[in-house]
Amino acid sequence: MIRQPFTVRLKQQKMLTPRVIELTFTRTDNLSFHFIPGQFITFLLPNEAGKLMRRSYSLANSPAEGAPWVIAVAAVDHGFATAKLFNLTLGDELLCIGPQGHLILDEGEPAAHYLLVATGTGVTPYRSMLPALAQRLEKDPLLKVTLLLGVRYTQDLLYEADFVALAKKQARFHFHVYLSREAMPLAKDYYYTGYVQNAFNTLALNPMHNLVYLCGNPYMIDESKAKLQEIGFSRQQIKQEKYFPAKAFVTAVGNDALKIEGQGRER
Ligand SMILES: Cc1cc2nc3c(=O)[nH]c(=O)nc-3n(C[C@H](O)[C@H](O)[C@H](O)COP(=O)(O)OP(=O)(O)OC[C@H]3O[C@@H](n4cnc5c(N)ncnc54)[C@H](O)[C@@H]3O)c2cc1C
Ligand SMILES: NC(=O)c1ccc[n+]([C@@H]2O[C@H](COP(=O)([O-])OP(=O)(O)OC[C@H]3O[C@@H](n4cnc5c(N)ncnc54)[C@H](OP(=O)(O)O)[C@@H]3O)[C@@H](O)[C@H]2O)c1
Repeated sequence: MIRQPFTVRLKQQKMLTPRVIELTFTRTDNLSFHFIPGQFITFLLPNEAGKLMRRSYSLANSPAEGAPWVIAVAAVDHGFATAKLFNLTLGDELLCIGPQGHLILDEGEPAAHYLLVATGTGVTPYRSMLPALAQRLEKDPLLKVTLLLGVRYTQDLLYEADFVALAKKQARFHFHVYLSREAMPLAKDYYYTGYVQNAFNTLALNPMHNLVYLCGNPYMIDESKAKLQEIGFSRQQIKQEKYFPAKAFVTAVGNDALKIEGQGRER
């Protein structure tokens, strides 16, 4: 990890969904920036008192010489970083550190099945992995990859076309979308209702030969882990990245009513 903070400049911005903005940055010192697909960067954003607040974002593009970095930011109501990142102007500069993170493709023994699970912008690490996944699938005829993405409505889907493109090209890449609030009937044959973990019972998972990645909503991660451990997965077979800490109490009305504090990363 690059521990010395450095400055990046905003080059492009566009809305990916009604609540997610994609931001593209380059380094102001023009030095190259290497990262491993699945890693994240951390902005150091000054608050009103001048204190630097840390906020992390997974890189959504895949690394290439001289490539900028792309992140996708979901709007959190009344969020400190949300207010800053949704109101940037092209050319604005931000301080950051990174890259870091362990939600990366395993370099050891190849798994027979990668199960990649995400909610919302938690899918960005997997988008960064797409070329590497395509290469691995090409090289290993026994490898299978399943991506499960959970969002509320179809309008909240991000990078759908990229995942569909690989699924069309490569029969062993499977893409399933779980829509938690969309009305029936669903528009596409890879759309399902409910939460991503509903899929687990349908996938013939095998703890001996599968590796699971979980990214995004902490309640999804905790519930998924519990389900996976029930069917025999060990901690070593599950990699995870929580976008905010699962604290406080769970209510019957979903996460909108939860009290959640702080910025952190739990693995
Ligand atoms: C390793 C890592 C990678 C991350 N990658 C991404 C990414 O790629 N894209 C992305 O959009 N976010 C990502 N996050 C989350 C991001 O770092 C911020 O937490 C998020 O943008 C909210 O920051 P904020 O300052 O706007 O909200 P805050 O001011 O920190 O929070 C406002 C309120 O909302 C709660 N809250 C914070 N985050 C969420 C949330 N996601 N959902 C619901 N309530 C929340 C807080 O507890 C608080 O009550 C990542 C987090 C980690 C730890
Ligand atoms: N005000 C608005 O209109 C609005 C709209 C969208 C998002 N938001 C807020 O924006 C922030 C980011 O939203 P986001 O949609 O990117 O991420 P998110 O709130 O983490 O939700 C992403 C998906 O995960 C689902 N989910 C929630 N709990 C789960 C669990 N225990 N297991 C499995 N899946 C679960 C959600 O379903 P459910 O939410 O249906 O339970 C949703 O389909 C959040 O603060 C969110 O509350 C607000």
